[in-house]
Amino acid sequence: MNTTIAFIGGGNMAASLIGGLISSSAPAANIMVAEPDQEQRSRLQQEFAVHTTADNSDTLNADVVILAVKPQLLQIVCRALSETLNQSGRQPLFISIAAGVRSDDIDRWLGGNRVIVRAMPNTPSLLASGATGLYANPRVNAAQQTVAETILQAVGITLWVNEEDELDAVTAVSGSGPAYFFLLMEAMQQAGVKLGLTPETAEKLVIQTALGAAQMADHSEMDAATLRAQVTSKGGTTEQAINHFQQAGFEPLVESAMQAAYDRSRTLANELGKDQS
Ligand SMILES: NC(=O)c1ccc[n+]([C@@H]2O[C@H](COP(=O)([O-])OP(=O)(O)OC[C@H]3O[C@@H](n4cnc5c(N)ncnc54)[C@H](OP(=O)(O)O)[C@@H]3O)[C@@H](O)[C@H]2O)c1
Repeated sequence: MNTTIAFIGGGNMAASLIGGLISSSAPAANIMVAEPDQEQRSRLQQEFAVHTTADNSDTLNADVVILAVKPQLLQIVCRALSETLNQSGRQPLFISIAAGVRSDDIDRWLGGNRVIVRAMPNTPSLLASGATGLYANPRVNAAQQTVAETILQAVGITLWVNEEDELDAVTAVSGSGPAYFFLLMEAMQQAGVKLGLTPETAEKLVIQTALGAAQMADHSEMDAATLRAQVTSKGGTTEQAINHFQQAGFEPLVESAMQAAYDRSRTLANELGKDQS
């Protein structure tokens, strides 16, 4: 990719994206990072040989500017860029990976009429196994959509949504999702220990079972319900456990938990989008 890419914020997610981009053969010379911390800048320079700067406005010459600061800082960072942007007349593609901040709010803070893709990645992106929901505002063209998805594909899979509100559902599914699996793994490990296994054995069995189940779901043509039915023989042990889960209201519990995550995502977006005086 010959596109020049600049990151504002050189933390964990930026480092993962840069690592992914470079291993998918993006030239380091085309990547810049604006980051206030000198040590972090040196680390990024040494590890990836990218350009670094302490001045966020240096990023505005790039084709793509990735907003990778904490959500609470996004407003102040964007507002500080808007004047330089207006003066330069440049229209870079902005990609925000900040959780929960709506594109209209980012657009307003950047001075208006900006080209913005909002991305909702999840933590496994740090290991290049992420799942990212993407939303393009109406000013993003098809070529820019391709650039945005190519960048985020450096850390996992990407899926576009048509309405920005759907990113709240993405947050409830894949954004918060890794923690649901960790919770189930934690509970299975504890139950395994109560059944007499050592904590180490229980942990290893649970991790490998989670990996194996995910790989089966990924590689199989069958959906999760069919895969489950196939391993649930009549009168067997799995059936006993599944009946137990379902009689205790497993599906409605998952639904209400995810509704709670969705509602919280909307509330946070409203709070983060308020203009600070
Ligand atoms: N980590 C994930 O799995 C994940 C998943 C989904 C979404 N995200 C989103 O990705 C974004 C970054 O997350 P992260 O985990 O990479 O956080 P992080 O490691 O804290 O990175 C943020 C970086 O921004 C720097 N920074 C602070 N103020 C700045 C400023 N004014 N201008 C430029 N850079 C500044 C910070 O430097 P200092 O450390 O010196 O303050 C830090 O290096 C967040 O908005 C988060 O919501 C992350």
